Amino acid sequence: MKPLHFTAVFSLTLVLSSAKISGGPRGRFDNNHKKNHHVTAHHAHFSYHPPTVIHFMCRHCSNFAPYPVFHGVPPTYVYKYRESNGKFGYLLSGLALYNLGRASSEHWEYTHFYSVQRNENCSLQVTDKKHFDEIVFPCFMMSSFMDRSPESHFPNPDALDITSPQIDVRPFILYNGSSIQVTRDQECILWHNSTGFKDKSVMPCALLKEYAETMKPSGIPVYVWLPLTVGTVITIYVLCQCCCKSQARKDDPLKPALIRFNSHYYY
Ligand SMILES: *[C@@H]1O[C@H](CO)[C@@H](O)[C@H](O)[C@H]1NC(C)=O
Ligand SMILES: *[C@@H]1O[C@H](CO)[C@@H](O)[C@H](O)[C@H]1NC(C)=O
Ligand SMILES: *[C@@H]1O[C@H](CO)[C@@H](O)[C@H](O)[C@H]1NC(C)=O
Repeated sequence: MKPLHFTAVFSLTLVLSSAKISGGPRGRFDNNHKKNHHVTAHHAHFSYHPPTVIHFMCRHCSNFAPYPVFHGVPPTYVYKYRESNGKFGYLLSGLALYNLGRASSEHWEYTHFYSVQRNENCSLQVTDKKHFDEIVFPCFMMSSFMDRSPESHFPNPDALDITSPQIDVRPFILYNGSSIQVTRDQECILWHNSTGFKDKSVMPCALLKEYAETMKPSGIPVYVWLPLTVGTVITIYVLCQCCCKSQARKDDPLKPALIRFNSHYYY
């Protein structure tokens, strides 16, 4: 096969297997405040299989309680956190799905919009008797845990759609091999701090874990399916080339007849 053909087939495969989504002007959330960048949506690693509701029993409760679940295509930022491979990414993907579930169980036409405020900061603290850890995340990911003024229910042209695939996040990757496991004893504390107030919401980290688990690793990892796809495309290409050549050879004696037929048709 000619190198040019090979390159063309290979690039085509790459283009087909990675869909690029560029960050929209309003959808850029960057904890490090660095330059703009693109989100590459490789959703091949995880797929979303939500149950109808999540039944969860908290540590000091005697019964399971139902928790709302988001039914739809999770936005890219959920995958980005889930794929970031650190303990915080895992919990934050769970938080994002919990938030989407809560928002969709209320007045969805309003609750999936979030008005970003200047000067607000949000963080997740993971605590138990031995540990304390904190991670900052974009506030829209806990929109349903905030007290909303009635005015915020009116459509705001600048509000952010929390389901938008254009939202770009840069997950903080902390994976030094000794990250603490999510246990039933841990509490997850969400902070929404702004000028004049600090709001705190507490929930079991195990609940966020339940939400994160609704996103399951996809069956075939990229390093298996990508070479397989490339291989298949090349095989089909080579086979076609061979077929066409042998077909062409067989057709040779018929060519004058075909031409005659065609010219006959047009006259
Ligand atoms: C919010 O305030 C709490 C309490 O002072 C603090 O522990 C937390 O780190 C703050 N979070 C952010 C993101 O500023
Ligand atoms: C790894 O992270 C944990 C939790 O954040 C921390 O306690 C520990 O000191 C870190 N270890 C190294 C080698 O940085
Ligand atoms: C939020 O973070 C920014 C940047 O780190 C800081 O300038 C601002 O004072 C913080 N706001 C609050 C309410 O903590």
